[in-house]
Order: sequence, then C-alpha cells, then structure tokens
Amino acid sequence: MDRIRIVGGNPLAGTIPVSGAKNAALPLMIASLLTPQTLTLENVPHLADVEQLIRILGNHGVDYSVNGKRDHQNGGTTSGYSRTINFTAENIVDTTAPYELVSKMRASFWVIGPVLARMGEAKVSLPGGCAIGTRPVDLFIEGLQALGADIDVDTGYVVAKAKNRLRGNRYTFPKVSVGATHVLMMAASLARGETVLENAAREPEVVNLAECLIAMGAKIHGAGTSTITIEGVDELSGAKVRVIPDRIETGTYAMAVAMTGGDVLLEGAQPDLLEAALDVIRKTGAEITPTNAGIRVKRNGAGIAPVDVTTEPFPGFPTDLQAQFMGLMTMAKGKSRITETIFENRFMHVQELARLGAHITLSGQTAIVEGVSKLKGAPVMATDLRASVSLVIAGLAAEGETTVNRVYHLDRGFERLEEKLSGCGAVIERISG
Ligand code: EPZ
Repeated sequence: MDRIRIVGGNPLAGTIPVSGAKNAALPLMIASLLTPQTLTLENVPHLADVEQLIRILGNHGVDYSVNGKRDHQNGGTTSGYSRTINFTAENIVDTTAPYELVSKMRASFWVIGPVLARMGEAKVSLPGGCAIGTRPVDLFIEGLQALGADIDVDTGYVVAKAKNRLRGNRYTFPKVSVGATHVLMMAASLARGETVLENAAREPEVVNLAECLIAMGAKIHGAGTSTITIEGVDELSGAKVRVIPDRIETGTYAMAVAMTGGDVLLEGAQPDLLEAALDVIRKTGAEITPTNAGIRVKRNGAGIAPVDVTTEPFPGFPTDLQAQFMGLMTMAKGKSRITETIFENRFMHVQELARLGAHITLSGQTAIVEGVSKLKGAPVMATDLRASVSLVIAGLAAEGETTVNRVYHLDRGFERLEEKLSGCGAVIERISG
C-alpha cells in the first residue's frame, strides 16, 4: 500500500492550480442518467472517486469518452489533471445499483433520483455505515415519497417505483442535506408539475448541479437559497457544463500555507465559494488576497492566532475543512475550540495529530486544541479523506519525517497532491508498495 513521506519545515512558495471539485463533479456525472443525449463535463478532476463512479454509471449503461484536449487552466497537461469527459446514457440497461458498487462510495446512492425519474423504478443498495458517522438515507426516502414514489427497503436495498411518473410536491427537509437536495432536484426535473424544496442545501455544488440541469432544459429557480422551485419537464437534453473549482482543496492548501508560512497563489480558486473559511484563515494571521488569477495566501513571521470554529451547512464553515483547520490550530499561540455539528464521528484525526505532539481534548462534539510551539514527525494514518490531508498539513509544518499511511484516502479527493505541494518547495513523496 502506498505511503506519503514528508520532511517538514519548509515554507510553501509558488503556484498551486486548483482542480475541479470532486463533490460537484460526482452529482453532475450522475445527472447524465437523466437524458439519452450526451452530457459533456469540463474540468472533471482525475480522482479515484470519479473513476469509481464511472464504473458505477457504466453498470447502468452510461458510455463515456475523455477528450484528449489540453486543459490549459489546469496546468496544460493531459495525463492526470482535470479533463473534459462526455457521458451518454442512451439506454439505461440496468436500474439496479448493487451493493458491491454502492458500498464503495456513498454518493453512488444518488443514482436513485435520476434512474427512478427516467425509468419509473430503481433498486439501489443502502450505502451502509461510514467512517464519519451513521449517515442514514431517511431524507432521500421521505423526499422521494413526497414526489409520489412507492418505496420499500428490502434485504439491504431501497426499491423505489413510480410507474406513472413522479409528481411535483412541496417538501421541507427536516435537516439540511446536500445529497438529498441533489437527488430531489434531479428527480423533480422530470416529474409532472411543480416541486418546491424548502430548507434545501445552499452549497455551491448544488448551484453547479442546478446550472447543469438548467442547461439540459430543466426549469429550476432559487438554487443557492434554501427554497428551490422546480417545474418538471417531459425530457432533458444533452449539455456542456464546467465543474466549479474545488473549494475544499482551496481551503486545504490555504491552511497549509497558514501553517507552514510562505506565499502561494491558488490558481483558479474562487473566493466566493469559501468566504467563511477564508475569514477564519485571515483571523489566524494569514493574508488572503483575491486576484484575477485566484487567491493569494501569505503568512510571514508572526505566530498563528487561535480561532474558534463551528461547522455549519453553507455558507458556514464547512465540515470538510474541520480536520485541516484542527491541524492548523495545533500550532496556534493559545487555545481554540472546534465544534463539529454535521457528522457525529468526525474527529478520527485527533489521536493521529496527537502522535505528532498536538494537545487536543474532546468534549462531546467539541475539540479543545491547546497550541504547541512545535510538532514532531511520526508515522500516522487516517480513516477518511479530509482527516488524512489534515495529517499531511501537520506533517509539512512538523520537524522531521512524517509518513502518512493509507494514501488511497487522499487519492479519492486530492488530485496530484504530492506534485502540487512539492512544486511549492515541500519535501513530499509517494512511496509505493
Ligand atoms: C456531502 O455529503 C459531501 N459529499 C460530504 O463530503 C460533506 O461532508 C457533506 O455533504 C456535508 O457538507 C459529497 O458531496 C460527495 P449530507 P452528504 O447529506 O450529501 C444527515 C468529503 O469528504 N443525513 O449533507 O452525504 C447526515 O448524516 C465528503 O468530500 C440524514 O440524517 O452529506 C449528516 O449528519 C464527506 N439523513 C447531515 O445530514 C439523510 O437521509 C448532512 O449530510 C441524509 C443525510
């Protein structure tokens, strides 16, 4: 199994190109199931989760082809960097998403919306537990039932039927859910009549999906606010859509610079996608400057100021940056409190950060971080993507050598991580085997 070896202590300086967002690319790819025509997605990151979803879509009958063109915005190379991919679901050959595929990636459960809306039936395996919490699917079931679907949960599968097409309705999410908002927006696009979704997720990835559906002919208003109105249409067409830049990758590298010091341009980053996180990073003492090319992050000299943070749905501070921020706070000059409100078990990085010398205590959903003046490298590993990258950030700032095991987590969500960081002066390499 590959490992990442880091020798910490170097400030970061240079340019890091920001990739297309994993969490936007995945629902856009799934939207290709809604039409027999070709959906062309630009700026799709080259990640293990994208490859896995291509396999899952292939099982339903989706063909794909990758354009050979260079994507200049992302470094001008074809191998590895974000690409343009065409997806064509001319015929849905299978309405079942089996356990073997869905259990590998939770987002694949989202195929339930488009497959049900287009084919009148879908049988999708329950995604099961996950390292960051129980992550149930009750909101998907309740929401699709509100659109008239008959749903049974049988032998580990959600079996949904809507023989006479889904019907528009008003549905209020009892809790904000990004995935359930994606699914209901896709399903309602092909339903009969109007759907109003209240307390919908406002994440930029929801807006990107709405833009995609609108380009495909859907009638959607209000995406990006908590009320989304969808007027169903009889069919959707092909379209060409660009995946937004990855706000979590942007925030991760910004925190890495805030921790190691240095001066880095995050090329292609869009500040409006992560204002809450950028404000917090500013408060820690880093300079954040939006430029025409992206976001410049700089920290010289002075120490890292402690800042308290609570995760919230967008536009609040994202849960997907909580672990990285904790990494940064381990070296702050004082005490900070980090409260996780989205997932009940998203603190697995705490004990691994402690291996590097961090002082963190947990009190329910709050971590109290007592900053230390230095961290020391050690072998570490984490059980999810964002936790793993928090260890990378901490390793970059630690004295000596850190080895991060279970690199496949990083490969799920960070395109060319080692290359991007070593291009800015970090000593970081992948060790195979
Ligand atoms: C998306 O997951 C992201 N994944 C997650 O990123 C992200 O952490 C999360 O949104 C929150 O921002 C993708 O976009 C692929 P939710 P999602 O439904 O949609 C509860 C990463 O590292 N809930 O908004 O699955 C749920 O348990 C990943 O890239 C229910 O109770 O998250 C959680 O507590 C990790 N019932 C809360 O809602 C349901 O039916 C928010 O989850 C659905 C969700």
